[in-house]
Amino acid sequence: MDWERRRIELQWHAAGFRQELRARWVLRKVNRLGRRARVLGDPRVDGTDVEIGDDFIIWQAHRQTLVSGGGRIRIGDRVFLNSGSVVLSVLEITIGDDVALANEVYVMDSNSHGVEGRPHVDAPVHIGSGTWVGARAMILPGVTIGKRVLVAAGSVVTKDVPDDVLVAGNPAKVIRTLSYPPRCRRAWHDAWCPCPKIEALEGDGSPPALDEPA
Ligand SMILES: CC(C)(COP(=O)(O)OP(=O)(O)OC[C@H]1O[C@@H](n2cnc3c(N)ncnc32)[C@H](O)[C@@H]1OP(=O)(O)O)[C@@H](O)C(=O)NCCC(=O)NCCS
Repeated sequence: MDWERRRIELQWHAAGFRQELRARWVLRKVNRLGRRARVLGDPRVDGTDVEIGDDFIIWQAHRQTLVSGGGRIRIGDRVFLNSGSVVLSVLEITIGDDVALANEVYVMDSNSHGVEGRPHVDAPVHIGSGTWVGARAMILPGVTIGKRVLVAAGSVVTKDVPDDVLVAGNPAKVIRTLSYPPRCRRAWHDAWCPCPKIEALEGDGSPPALDEPA
């Protein structure tokens, strides 16, 4: 038995348990919360109409993480919100399954102020399943982002984005189409969602234990 590895695994499980306990307090205002939510630090989740699926993870470290407003906020299963991200809704923001918002991502469905005497714009925002939004990207009101999209760091997304593309820049433009291996359900991979292609190269060649097909 590798004791050092066992010790690290135990520490990992203990940290997970603490984060699940913390979630019960921090996410107490959420209208509907799935199973196994985990919270690190002290994010503010105080929107008045928020529903969140299973295996939600939200972190706060260096900056306030915020899920707030009087709009309808719907967050799917296995979603990760990293430190400093803001999801601010007056109307409707939906985030699909397996979505990750990196550090300091800003998602808003209202301009808050009008210009040139025009009324201010409130328009729903949708982020498709499997999409990864890079650090400090912004998603503006009215935007629908497709599935398994990779939004590069610092992008400002002003228009709808189709499925399976990389977008980057300000305003964000499609850089290229992304092609994924079969059964890949999200734009990034890690230990919890390994890339089938890499597993086949590095592992024993057996298919990964993904719990649902893309
Ligand atoms: C998008 C990203 C993952 C790179 O993906 P990639 O598939 O390796 O893309 P490439 O590096 O091949 O870049 C493709 C093109 O997009 C451009 N590009 C990449 N990222 C960009 C960005 N953030 N802003 C503007 N342009 C960008 C590249 O310059 C390149 O342009 P070119 O074809 O004219 O040379 C990376 O740039 C990025 O944004 N990383 C941030 C990840 C993050 O936020 N992590 C936080 C932890 S959750």
